[in-house]
Amino acid sequence: MTDVAVLFDRLAELRREAEGLTLRKLFADDAERFARYSVKLDDLLFDYSKTHMTPEALELLVALAKAADVEGRRDAMFAGEKINVTEDRAVLHTALRAPEGASILVDGVDVMPEVLAERRKAADFAEAVRAGVLEGATGERFTDVVNIGIGGSDLGPAMAALALSPYTQQGLRGHFVSNVDGSHITDVLRHLDPTSTLILVASKTFTTMETMANAHEARRWLVGALGEAAVGAHFAAISTNARAVEAFGMSADRMFRFWDWVGGRYSLWSVIGLSLTILIGGKNFDAFLAGGHEIDEHFRTAPLDRNIPALMGLIGIWHRNVCGYDTHAVLPYDQRLARFPAYLQQLDMESNGKSVTLDGAPVATKTGPIVWGEPGTNGQHAFYQLLHQGTNVVPADILLGAVPHEHVADQHAMLLANGLAQGEAFMKGRTTEEAVAQLEASGVDAAEATRLAPHKTFPGDRPTSTIAYRTLDPRTLGRLIALYEHKVFVQGTIWGINSFDQWGVELGKELASRLIPVVKGERGTEELDSSTRGLVEHLAKLREA
Ligand code: F6P
Repeated sequence: MTDVAVLFDRLAELRREAEGLTLRKLFADDAERFARYSVKLDDLLFDYSKTHMTPEALELLVALAKAADVEGRRDAMFAGEKINVTEDRAVLHTALRAPEGASILVDGVDVMPEVLAERRKAADFAEAVRAGVLEGATGERFTDVVNIGIGGSDLGPAMAALALSPYTQQGLRGHFVSNVDGSHITDVLRHLDPTSTLILVASKTFTTMETMANAHEARRWLVGALGEAAVGAHFAAISTNARAVEAFGMSADRMFRFWDWVGGRYSLWSVIGLSLTILIGGKNFDAFLAGGHEIDEHFRTAPLDRNIPALMGLIGIWHRNVCGYDTHAVLPYDQRLARFPAYLQQLDMESNGKSVTLDGAPVATKTGPIVWGEPGTNGQHAFYQLLHQGTNVVPADILLGAVPHEHVADQHAMLLANGLAQGEAFMKGRTTEEAVAQLEASGVDAAEATRLAPHKTFPGDRPTSTIAYRTLDPRTLGRLIALYEHKVFVQGTIWGINSFDQWGVELGKELASRLIPVVKGERGTEELDSSTRGLVEHLAKLREA
């Protein structure tokens, strides 16, 4: 048995022994629980006191991280070693947010000069657009920036543009087109004036079906209005594939590069963030990068039991592998983080949705949970019922920002009170006796109170962690994303999987390519299974009618 397996067994044993050790009891027994189980990093506070952590559990989890060599693998990642073994690549999104003066080697070559040069090129381009120096083909100032991409080439910029909308320059609007569903690009372009629209085609590979289809449609739209000669002035590309960009008709000065050691879901820090840089400006984008770098330094240097991303990862391991919870909810009490759960879905589920270890053997434990969520308070009026009284326990992260950008009467106090109340309610619940007492106090007679009480009982004891910060500004967004990136890394390392490939998305892509001619009626359905054939034929009939 490996050390990791032994520690998993000991954790399971600890959980059995701790049966009945509820969150209520843990708080009742320890007045210092909050201080003991929270970590502060400047204004950023990570409070995990409302999980079932005990000194023994934490000790075993830290031992587990050490046994899995989280620290060694972390250092290897930061040093540019090729830890993505199935693609033979380094994993260096951390280099993208490293400050000037840093030196990071891949295959003996320092990548930082190129990183900094590309960062500068993107910032200069963004400034020229913002200042109106760079214009459309007819001399119009750009007012609208359309980012065409999907997955990591869309979710990051789209999520961040919303999160940082208070920093957007007046008169500039960002739009994000991702879905191959033609309605997406139609709905976006419908409202735009080609003369003042800048189109960024963002694709690491520059071969992704959805992105290329949308890029060609945008090109047709622009050429239809302004002619072929306008393409150069209105398009820019963000990619690692210079040849394909050139073939699309874009010149080298309109291509922004990144490298194969940047995973798609880790690429917002690269020139994939160009749309964001145009919207919020280079200085704010630099603050975003600096926030990510701050967390890198913390992750690299803080001891594991005071290391926020390591703790987030270890608590997640406890919930997933020791308690057996299948899902993890992210509940930002910050409306501008509305797309953050979707962003984290790709980050976490594409990274850790794996079933084999680095050497190809089946994993011995469950791996990544299903990640989901919505902003509070909206979620409260939708799915929180299940979180409070359903039969599934869903561990959750609650995100709280202290200072809003807008002071709308006392609404921010209402928002914070709700976020805090939910954490308290998940933790404490309400016993049947308390429910009876409350009913009786409101004038309900004893028999009726007893009948209703089971429906008004909350099991509680449902774990949450809370991340609190001052304001959702560029630095804070950078810190939040980097926290989750490293959390995912810690977990992937403990599970012994490769968090940096995504072969699981390939099969569907291959089959879709094969089915396109079938759907178009250019190829027969003979080779299909009966269900797919039946569906193709049914849809074909509807399309003909
Ligand atoms: O869905 C798989 C994936 O490869 C993601 O990892 C990636 O972010 C997305 O497709 C888009 O890829 P590209 O940037 O190459 O268009």
